[in-house]
Amino acid sequence: MPVSDLTAALADVRALLLAPDDLVRAVAAGRRRGVEPPAAERVEVRPVALRAGPHLQLVSRTGPVVSTVNAPLGERAAAAVDDLLAQPFGNFHVETSSQVLQLRVTKRGEAQVHRSATSRRAVQAGPQAHDRTKQRLVDPDDPLFRVLGAGGDKRRQVDAFVRQLAPLAPRALDAAAGRELRAVDLGCGNAYLTFAAHRWLAGRAGEDGAALRTVGVDVRPDVVERSERLAGEAGLAGLSFAVGSIVDADPFDGAAPDVVLALHACDTATDDALARAVRWGSPVVLAAPCCHRDVQRQIAGARAGDGLGGGRGGAGEPLVRHPILRERFADVLTDALRALVLQVLGYRVEVVEFVDSRHTPRNALLRAVRTGGPRPEHLAELDALRAQWGVEPVLARRLAPQLDAVRALA
Ligand SMILES: C[S@@+](CC[C@H](N)C(=O)[O-])C[C@H]1O[C@@H](n2cnc3c(N)ncnc32)[C@H](O)[C@@H]1O
Repeated sequence: MPVSDLTAALADVRALLLAPDDLVRAVAAGRRRGVEPPAAERVEVRPVALRAGPHLQLVSRTGPVVSTVNAPLGERAAAAVDDLLAQPFGNFHVETSSQVLQLRVTKRGEAQVHRSATSRRAVQAGPQAHDRTKQRLVDPDDPLFRVLGAGGDKRRQVDAFVRQLAPLAPRALDAAAGRELRAVDLGCGNAYLTFAAHRWLAGRAGEDGAALRTVGVDVRPDVVERSERLAGEAGLAGLSFAVGSIVDADPFDGAAPDVVLALHACDTATDDALARAVRWGSPVVLAAPCCHRDVQRQIAGARAGDGLGGGRGGAGEPLVRHPILRERFADVLTDALRALVLQVLGYRVEVVEFVDSRHTPRNALLRAVRTGGPRPEHLAELDALRAQWGVEPVLARRLAPQLDAVRALA
């Protein structure tokens, strides 16, 4: 293979990376002989369409560590590409809608370039390329979404959420054996999830010969009224909406729901939803939290001398010294505490990323299944974490009597 000047070859790569309408993806990997390796083992580049507009996304991997940069097209994307090309990667692979370029840096620091026509059929270039997804459970072209006014990101969130619900449906249907299945969406807002979950659950329940009732609950009368009207117009049987607070929601007149959903219920409304689900004893609970101000405020109000983070003088204080780190740490701590409270009270809990962060940065999901009796062994973990950070999470306050009852058993 002929060799050419590396600077000129990298300039070709740069031009391809900065033509986002044509670019499909690119990968920089490998190292050059005799020089320090690049900062990352591998960087993947592709154009993405974010809510804020088209961006170039650079995902760097080093072992298990992954970091993502989304650079808006223009100067920022050009700077990110220049930084990438300045690193001593040994190989660059660039796919566009029409060609594949492979650049290998030889031992002598020259470029070996191979170009071929793109062989993949119907390759999708441009910022929409990231939309290539697995088959949806919720049909994105369902006219219902148009009527609801749900945008692409919301449709993807809702589809991903329902995908997490799907494996737990048999557990809910078992609990509902011999009667209708009952599902509630707490803090339903514009009810995209309520409609989508109802559509999907109705089909699933139908396979088992079960009927379904779904209720969306929200404090805002306007969104509830709108959703009621749209459900009526769509002729969706078994779907209704109720104005009310999550704290004392009673969507089935005293009967417990089998499925409790909460998508981005604001701040501590997620705790209210989890507490409500626990008091109902609902077998299947899925909650994707929103912002976490409660624990963040408590940490911000404490001082290092209080022993914040444990140890003498608060060895963990540097973790929360900077506001951005404090915010991120509080997210993690809040959800860890929520998971522990649910575990103590008899739920198996997984915390998963339910959708790519491109579609919402609030993409953690607590997926909980009631397994039976309480688990006192998790109390010590819960208490230690609370004491270490000097916080009293809302969920533990809401469920204090239930936690005390488990404590009495321990
Ligand atoms: C960020 S929106 C999310 C709406 C919807 N779940 C979604 O993801 O599109 C949060 C919703 O929760 C509702 N909400 C907040 N606190 C609530 C409470 N205590 N009881 C009932 N609804 C509440 C708000 O009115 C709002 O509609």
